[in-house]
Amino acid sequence: MTIPFIGLTSSCLPHQILYIASTASTRHLPGPWYSRFTHYRLKKAVVSGQRVFYIDSLHKKYGPIVRLSPHEVAIADLESFKEIHKIGTKYLKDGWYERLANFPKRGIFTMVDPREHGPRRKLLSRSFSRSYLVENWEHIVRAKAQLAVSKIKTAALSHVADVYNWWMLLASDVTAHLAFGEPFGMLEVGHANQFMRVLKALTMGAGIMVEMPLLRILRFVPITRVQEMFNGNEYLLKGADRAVEMARSRTGEANVFAKVIEDSEKEGEGHIDDMDVRIEAMNVIIAGTDTTGVTLTYLTWAVLQRPELQAALEAEIATLPDNFKENDLIPLPLLNAVIEETLRLYGAAPSSLPRVVPQGGAKLGGHYIPQGTTVCTQAYTFHRDPNIWNDPLAFNPQRWIGTNEATPEALTPDAKTAFHPFGAGARSCVGVHLARMEMRYAVAFFFRECKGIKLGPRTTPETMEFENFFLIAPKAHRCEVTLRP
Ligand code: HEM
Repeated sequence: MTIPFIGLTSSCLPHQILYIASTASTRHLPGPWYSRFTHYRLKKAVVSGQRVFYIDSLHKKYGPIVRLSPHEVAIADLESFKEIHKIGTKYLKDGWYERLANFPKRGIFTMVDPREHGPRRKLLSRSFSRSYLVENWEHIVRAKAQLAVSKIKTAALSHVADVYNWWMLLASDVTAHLAFGEPFGMLEVGHANQFMRVLKALTMGAGIMVEMPLLRILRFVPITRVQEMFNGNEYLLKGADRAVEMARSRTGEANVFAKVIEDSEKEGEGHIDDMDVRIEAMNVIIAGTDTTGVTLTYLTWAVLQRPELQAALEAEIATLPDNFKENDLIPLPLLNAVIEETLRLYGAAPSSLPRVVPQGGAKLGGHYIPQGTTVCTQAYTFHRDPNIWNDPLAFNPQRWIGTNEATPEALTPDAKTAFHPFGAGARSCVGVHLARMEMRYAVAFFFRECKGIKLGPRTTPETMEFENFFLIAPKAHRCEVTLRP
């Protein structure tokens, strides 16, 4: 019999456990005794959506360097964080990312080798640069944010609006439009379309398979929902043909990939074929939907719990001209401070970013860590470190405001380094400008059009507690607001 998670046969179990515990290359590091020979406890935290909390509790008990399993170590030391994520780092993404990829080729998120990732990154970065977005896509982002808020307002006036649903639809409608070059129209109808549903199911299936490979067997279960989770690739790749058609047609309103293809042909670098376009189109939608949707949901929740902050934000936004643009939003101190503080405490991706210790091993936080060990840093812990932030658990946008300007200059150098809601270094978020643009517009329209809006009675601190499956989400998967007295 094989023991799950440990992977040993019962006949030789005691010997093998002792062998692993005494030879594990991480055995000298601080950490719970059982982590010397098994990753079972860590896995339990992962599959129950508790990973960030479990690792944070270990840091509180054992310090900034903690063994999580015989081959995995969590790091909450700032100098080590800088070393691991610096530009040109030799700490590459862990094989976990490649195992997540369930399409015929790797894409920007799952590529590990910098020689493969670098050229792809360069191509996509241009299409998501702020200047390119402002010139070509800002009007679309603005119109969709405005539509999302008008839908929220209508629902909130008649009963309650679920902002979790509407902010998700906003984020997916924006990324889908950029990726495909035509609207998916989900905000109009109020729910996700079939393509988005299958894409989400498949992403969930990939997450399950990477943690519990034995569940691959579910691919044979003839239930539609299960089939979408484990066998949805073909349907999606066919649907993503539209992104290729639009990019190659160069007529009408092309998508971001028209530029990617044009740049790759012009410079002969980072060749991108039709399959790459299909896969990156889906990557952009996956990476840009729940991240932005969840962050906006927590922002709404955090502000609506604080009537004074809400009133101050509404007053600041009321000073905007009717046809405001993102350039009018960037100088608003409170609006930007609220976004930063939300990203600190409730940014949607605060979980481990696993990387591998390069050849020769490394000294991190005063400990030798052997080559090949997976090292994980998590924003959740850095963003709540009392040595870095005053009163770290308080939602306090004021900490971002220096001499009336919402700029990180008001922060200490340690806080500036530690703050990484969009990841760090060469693998940081390529969609950061798009995400900020969407959030600024959504917040501005919401607090301008829905003055005095309140949380619905069914939304409580308990329903908003978060679960963590790489990203975070409110446990209830809902956040209700109302404009009814
Ligand atoms: C508030 C919203 C967002 C947050 C908090 C966020 C966060 C992150 C984080 C933490 C990473 C690094 C992941 C890692 O190292 O494992 C990342 C990477 C990435 N993000 Fe975002 N993201 C957001 C929005 C977006 C949007 C709108 C897009 C759409 C283009 C996007 C596209 C990507 C891509 C393609 C990567 C992989 C980059 C690479 O490996 O070179 N993200 N994001």
